[in-house]
Amino acid sequence: MNIPNKIAIVTGASSGLGAAISNALVAEGATVFGLARNNDSLKELQKKLGSKFIPVQLDISESKAVNKWIAETFSEEKSPDVLVNNAGVGSFGKIDEMPSEQWYNMINTNLNGMYCITSEVVKLMKAKKDNTHIVNIGSILGITARAEGAAYCTTKYGINGFSEALFKELRTDNIKVTCLNPGSIDTNFFASSGINSHGNMLQAKDIASTLLHILNTPDNMLISEMTIRPLNPKAPE
Ligand SMILES: NC(=O)c1ccc[n+]([C@@H]2O[C@H](COP(=O)([O-])OP(=O)(O)OC[C@H]3O[C@@H](n4cnc5c(N)ncnc54)[C@H](OP(=O)(O)O)[C@@H]3O)[C@@H](O)[C@H]2O)c1
Repeated sequence: MNIPNKIAIVTGASSGLGAAISNALVAEGATVFGLARNNDSLKELQKKLGSKFIPVQLDISESKAVNKWIAETFSEEKSPDVLVNNAGVGSFGKIDEMPSEQWYNMINTNLNGMYCITSEVVKLMKAKKDNTHIVNIGSILGITARAEGAAYCTTKYGINGFSEALFKELRTDNIKVTCLNPGSIDTNFFASSGINSHGNMLQAKDIASTLLHILNTPDNMLISEMTIRPLNPKAPE
């Protein structure tokens, strides 16, 4: 895909990996609709990235609001070429101790939210002649599990299954589907889980440039799944 002048949707654009992906896409000449709940952070990012970054305050788990935004924003003449399903939440805890709201929040955001926006965007992508691309951000915890991560791992294993099935379903519609599974990234993601992020974790800007590479592959070449890990995962002394 030739990224300049393409239209992208990036969910979870207000921080971390989503902000870095938005930055990389805008730098390549794409227009990015950046979705998240925190409007102030989105507006801050727009100050940095300029008018090609369009902040959209939206909770992706609210299906009616997502459907309304898609219907009001896009048409056959103006529709997304790229969807990056990046928004995600994670909390960790013992299955008999973790509050059930955390389970439902992870399922509603990481799985139901992703389904909700993807099912609407695919309708628009199917009408396009050129290749389009959906990139789902999974996790290393979508291919191997950890203790006290049952809920988060359920969602990330789910994203891997969703991506593989969609890839097989949509390849004949010229829609590429990729599942990108990073290991620990140095973002605010860990703030709520009591884990300190550090400089030996993966850097969001490096994952973003890998994502651009995945989008830039020739039309008939698809990277359907990619796992990325830090070589040395230990915090610097
Ligand atoms: N950090 C890691 O080590 C790591 C490793 C592997 C995979 N991942 C995955 O990478 C993705 C990005 O995480 P990150 O590390 O960049 O963490 P982050 O900084 O906490 O970013 C998460 C983003 O998701 C958004 N979000 C959460 N719930 C949402 C909702 N209901 N509707 C819309 N947006 C929502 C947040 O924005 P608002 O709060 O403003 O809504 C935020 O922009 C996630 O899917 C995560 O699971 C992270």
